[in-house]
Amino acid sequence: MRNEGPPAFPSGPGDPLAGRRVLVLISGSIAAVKLPLLVSALVQRGALVRCVLSPSAEGLVSAVALASLSRAPCHLEADQWSHQAPRPLHIELAEWAEVVLLAPLSATSLARWVHGLADTLLASTLLACEAPVLAAPAMNSAMWAAPAVRRNWRELQSWERVLPLEPGSGLLACDRVGDGRMADPAVLLLALESLLLVGCRRDWRGRRLLVSAGPTREPLDPARCLTNPSTGRMGVLLAQAARFRGATVDLVHGPLAVDPAWLEGLQVHPVDTAAAMQAALEGLQAGADAIAMAAAVADHRRSAPETAKLAKQDLEACLATGWEPVPDLLAALVRRRPPAQAILGFAAQSGEVLQEARAKFARKGCDLLFANPIDRPGAGFASATNDGWLLGPGSRERRFEAGGKLALAHRLLSALAEVLTLRIPDRVPAGR
Ligand SMILES: Cc1cc2nc3c(=O)[nH]c(=O)nc-3n(C[C@H](O)[C@H](O)[C@H](O)COP(=O)(O)O)c2cc1C
Repeated sequence: MRNEGPPAFPSGPGDPLAGRRVLVLISGSIAAVKLPLLVSALVQRGALVRCVLSPSAEGLVSAVALASLSRAPCHLEADQWSHQAPRPLHIELAEWAEVVLLAPLSATSLARWVHGLADTLLASTLLACEAPVLAAPAMNSAMWAAPAVRRNWRELQSWERVLPLEPGSGLLACDRVGDGRMADPAVLLLALESLLLVGCRRDWRGRRLLVSAGPTREPLDPARCLTNPSTGRMGVLLAQAARFRGATVDLVHGPLAVDPAWLEGLQVHPVDTAAAMQAALEGLQAGADAIAMAAAVADHRRSAPETAKLAKQDLEACLATGWEPVPDLLAALVRRRPPAQAILGFAAQSGEVLQEARAKFARKGCDLLFANPIDRPGAGFASATNDGWLLGPGSRERRFEAGGKLALAHRLLSALAEVLTLRIPDRVPAGR
């Protein structure tokens, strides 16, 4: 096999995809046309990529495009029967893979896999492979609802080595609107990263997580507002990481600056002001096993926002008065919580992080507090990476070195799951 050298493209610090061997198995769904660009994105992140097309997929997407974008041969059905291969190709490929992206997964390939058939290069590679598999089905909504497909998909949920990614709803190539649309490529990338970070862990299965993300926006007048530079990235990644680990996730979010596809699979509750965020969170609190308050909520708001736009020359005088503090949302949730609920708060700090965070942790009464700097490059608002301190029960303080926000999200979820497990040991999920 070629393509073993160091990645040709620079990737971000600690990118979980860099240098990893990703085997992309593409079966016969029209969603296969999305794969060449996804393969290109993987290669640009430093991954080593090999592609296999099923016989039907060969008619739907260009093997030449895939070979060119992956910088490696794209394997077709006929390649399995080469008289020059010293070892069977499906074994070579299966042993090469560190992780498998099975996308799109057709109804036929799903059935073959679940029933142990190995009658194509793709199917035999899949059976021979011991690496974790991210499986992303795509099909017409009636096919997806068919009892046989439902049964096969249910069966897959219980396999330890598989991260099954439900298709979403939307306009399908058959002109229907409904379930069966392959997960967005941006979400496939996140899920693949997640697989490389924590494997197919499903320790949040059966649990409900409530997450807040993004800034709030407090109006001054119809044309102006008070807000902050939060993008919502940390909260949204926490929500997706929990979903990949089996949780049902409610996301209450202010105006976000992340790829809208990252909201796929989450129950979203968009809000604008701190008051609306508080109402939404309090409405959802009772049903949640845990809460992660990653939103950057405004500290102050106008007691009475102007109903007409203020003239420029009146701004200064008007802004000198008329402010009121926003109630502390985290503290309010802590006061109202059911006894078994675990709560993680965030503290954005400038200057010295730990001393301030200790005082905040004592004041807020949450189970965990993650304090991160916002006055350094590579951490805080709008950054792809973060670092900080996690303060927890029994005065436990853990330093988290700089890393990607998805990796951090997983560490925080593990800490939150620990709190839940300690609190209600009889509810340890049966997940992996
Ligand atoms: C244009 C076209 C689009 C198709 N789209 C899908 C699809 O989205 N999902 C699916 O399960 N099958 C789809 N099929 C049918 C599969 O290609 C067919 O069931 C095939 O046997 C799948 O085999 P494979 O899993 O080995 O690729 C489509 C067929 C055609 C001709």
